[in-house]
Amino acid sequence: MTELEKGIKDEDSSLQMENTYIPELPDGSEEGDFLALDLGGTNFRVLYLQLKCGKIVVEHVKKYHISDELRVGCGNKLFDYLAECVSNFIHSEGIADKKLPLGFSFSFPMHQRSLDVGILRQWTKSFAATSVEGKDAVQMLREAMQRRGHNNIDVVAILNDSTGTLMQGAAMDKRTRIGLILGTGSNACYVERADKVYHWESERHGEKEVVIDTEWGAYGDNGVIDFVKTDFDRQVDENSLFTNSFTFEKYIGGKYLGENVRVILAHLTKQKLIFGGNISKKLLIPNSFNSSFVSLIELDTVTNSIVETEKILDMFDLTYTNDDIAVVKLVCEMVSLRAAVLVSVCLSELLKHMNKDDVTIAVDGSLYKCHPRLKSWMEKFITLLAPDHTFHLLLAEDGSGKGAAFTAAIAARLRHRSMG
Ligand code: GLC
Repeated sequence: MTELEKGIKDEDSSLQMENTYIPELPDGSEEGDFLALDLGGTNFRVLYLQLKCGKIVVEHVKKYHISDELRVGCGNKLFDYLAECVSNFIHSEGIADKKLPLGFSFSFPMHQRSLDVGILRQWTKSFAATSVEGKDAVQMLREAMQRRGHNNIDVVAILNDSTGTLMQGAAMDKRTRIGLILGTGSNACYVERADKVYHWESERHGEKEVVIDTEWGAYGDNGVIDFVKTDFDRQVDENSLFTNSFTFEKYIGGKYLGENVRVILAHLTKQKLIFGGNISKKLLIPNSFNSSFVSLIELDTVTNSIVETEKILDMFDLTYTNDDIAVVKLVCEMVSLRAAVLVSVCLSELLKHMNKDDVTIAVDGSLYKCHPRLKSWMEKFITLLAPDHTFHLLLAEDGSGKGAAFTAAIAARLRHRSMG
């Protein structure tokens, strides 16, 4: 049995295959005013969205910076800060007295008990706040809002950014059945037949389908994909905040691609194969090589230029020849290519598992948007790997924010229905 099948059957697997309890996608009837929160990327964002006939007609967004101190400090303080941002936002929008349903995009692995209960299993990416793991993020948010006296906001759904992207994609194109994030982290979700899913903790209402969050960032944490692991990967892992976990994400996520390249370049320099064997202090600093640099160097390769590569090498205080530039470009290409192959393998397996034709895959994330050839590689590889399944990649920008509003609208619809 594959990891995917084991996960769905609630057996031991590195694929969590979490039930999101979202039983339907936007159908064009979504209406109303919603708040959405997006926590998980670089900034925390608060959104106010108005939906009419399944379309977003008003969208106001404000970004709030989350300091490193808050990311890794006390959990209650982090949630108090989130509530403070919401408070600032609703006051500046003049909607503080309005009763509003809220969708919370919380892009970390959760154990969901229902659409509005999400227990944080483990922080990922650059978050590590204390006393949140094992707790319900919705409850923590509600309590923090109550501490500020905001009783008008009704948190109706918690979801992950890949789920949000699927929802936003479905609102754009009805064929959407997969959501994919290729950003700081990586994850995918898809629409599964409800009868195949073993794990249900809340009352069933005759669901035919349900969105499953694969949490594929942790794929391979049990060693099943160790055959891809190189010494460079081991070093990337050692330099990361969460050693021995999120194996797959470390091969493909924007948080790690640059570090992969840095580790390889440092090794080649130490072997005296590039930069005349002279390493710079900056190149020795873990995580100093941003994945956006990989995208820029790849842009040089695509446009047959060296301008961006030179700028980046200058920034790292490196002295280089044209041969060195060629090696740096090759390393970026190899690291990117491996990511594209690995993502494509998993997507093609999902397509085969779903066994549906003409599936749109909604994608969002900084890596996907900035890298000049990930998309075309993925199209090529998925076509090769799943030749019997037609698919399209659709950019669903800001899926985590907009998708949270659609999910909140669906949650409201479900509540309404169950009340008769
Ligand atoms: C990490 C999180 C996951 C999220 C992904 C992309 O893998 O665990 O929930 O979807 O990053 O942000």
